[in-house]
Amino acid sequence: MLLLRRCLSLARFSPLNSQRHQVSPTVALCAVRLCSSSGGGGGGGEDQRSYQHTHRPRWRHALAGLLAGSGAVLAYGLHNHKAEQEDISVQNLKKRSGLPIYSQEEVTKHRSLENGVWVTYKGGVYDITEFVAMHPGGEKILLAAGGALEPFWALYAVHNQEHVLEILSEYKVGELSVEDQKKQQAIKSSDPYASDPERHPVLHVNSLKPFNAEPPPEILTDSYVTPSAFFFKRNHLPVPHVDPATYQLRVEGLPGGVLTLSLEDLKTRFPKHTITATLQCAGNRRSEMNKVKQVKGLNWGIAAISNATWSGARLRDVLLAAGYRPDVAQWAHHVQFEGLDKDVTGTTYGASIPINKAISEEGDVLLAYEMNGEDIPLDHGFPVRAVVPGVVGARNVKWLGKIVVSAEESSSHWQQNDYKGFSPGTDWDTVDFKSAPAIQELPIQSAITTPADGATIDRSVETVTVKGYAWSGGGREVVRVDVSLDGGKTWQVAQLRGSEEGQGPESSPPPGRAWAWKLWEITAPFPHEAEELEIVCKAVDSSYNAQPDTVSPIWNLRGVLSNAWHRVKTPC
Ligand code: MTE
Repeated sequence: MLLLRRCLSLARFSPLNSQRHQVSPTVALCAVRLCSSSGGGGGGGEDQRSYQHTHRPRWRHALAGLLAGSGAVLAYGLHNHKAEQEDISVQNLKKRSGLPIYSQEEVTKHRSLENGVWVTYKGGVYDITEFVAMHPGGEKILLAAGGALEPFWALYAVHNQEHVLEILSEYKVGELSVEDQKKQQAIKSSDPYASDPERHPVLHVNSLKPFNAEPPPEILTDSYVTPSAFFFKRNHLPVPHVDPATYQLRVEGLPGGVLTLSLEDLKTRFPKHTITATLQCAGNRRSEMNKVKQVKGLNWGIAAISNATWSGARLRDVLLAAGYRPDVAQWAHHVQFEGLDKDVTGTTYGASIPINKAISEEGDVLLAYEMNGEDIPLDHGFPVRAVVPGVVGARNVKWLGKIVVSAEESSSHWQQNDYKGFSPGTDWDTVDFKSAPAIQELPIQSAITTPADGATIDRSVETVTVKGYAWSGGGREVVRVDVSLDGGKTWQVAQLRGSEEGQGPESSPPPGRAWAWKLWEITAPFPHEAEELEIVCKAVDSSYNAQPDTVSPIWNLRGVLSNAWHRVKTPC
């Protein structure tokens, strides 16, 4: 780190970098190399090249994450951490005692690149000017300048990691005066997650703040419609509390001008439409990609997917009421959604879908106010969320505040710089997010929910029962699930179920509108000669799309679209 600072100082005074705070690519590389050769973790038998590829981004984006608290930070660097952060020692930050004492007034004078960028953290004063110069994200970082870091970091508990604190410690220039420390403590930054709702204790928590959790897999196939309490939860920010009495949804961008609708308007002015639809996170089954090679993101198992009934107004009806006419499609190509959940800078969650999906009668896109027959629970978007059946979870915007019909996609981080797929050969040094389309419809997927991987099967049994789910995006119906008990050498066809058990004969969904998953089950004779079962499943949809057999060829740096054959091994 000290070497890095030296590199930066050299850069500052080198003739090629006469302008203060510009970091030359050579110096940036120098910083990167230093980190690669001194950064903790991994490395072992890896060659230098692959070592750098693994660690360079972590370093660079850990820096980026130091302040910004933006989604980009999560996506790039610090996302893959444990659910509950360890209580990190701040000993490093206490280093270098004997440094000057500064008043808050003095610190406040340093809030620009010209005057230097200073911040305080736990009583220390830090000059992070050099860091700001290196920061790829820009302006957001300056929001903390001259003040305390705590309120920024409170939004993302993810910053409370040792390597982030270590980076900060190198920038320490002094101590904050005792009087001003007392004042800061009195203000005490509030926890933006304090008012998050209670969650069911059975959920496996991937991250507490923001809250991300999935149910135990076997619960998923207990019922065709997932009870809301067990439905996976994927939040990027604190859950906003919206008063249903004053809630207003703005619809913009159409010739009719702005349409504002209350919750009551949505419920009474438009026919109520109900669909059963499966929602799947792009990162479902990411943990299997992680086993091949590390990816960035929450380590989801196989249950970042759930199925619910959703009721609400059709987006199509609302757009028509707001002035949509066929000629609008000549210039408008997207419908953007904005959530009411915000980060500290006021940036909201956002995403968009193609206008054809939004306006199509067969698209079934809902502005849903009910989930499983009740008001949508807080975690799932109360009072109104977009439900875009057949489309990746990320576009199903919760706590919906605004809809914009536009020629452009949403400019949101989550539309532009996340939730996109890349080649296994693309790494964080070469990735160009502009080069790939935003994920919309998801590919064919299936997984085994029971038996669990590693579960022992009693040899005395006559038969073995395997259960799971299967689903495909874009309204493509799952037409078959193949199951193997011997690692894929021989296959049997599973029984599919497209409704709650015991609900009588099933009717097929209209073609192209199979929004809900199929649960499947097979009971097969126990292969007594086997010492271990390697159970494998793979599904086929109505377009005869099938799942790839292994993860490696579909590995990608964000760990999205993980849909290889699912395998569990059970000793017997
Ligand atoms: N909408 C808002 N406003 N904020 C969010 O963080 N997360 C998205 C989507 N909509 C998100 C959001 C993602 S990535 C997913 S997978 C789904 O919501 C998850 O929906 P759920 O929590 O109801 O399962």
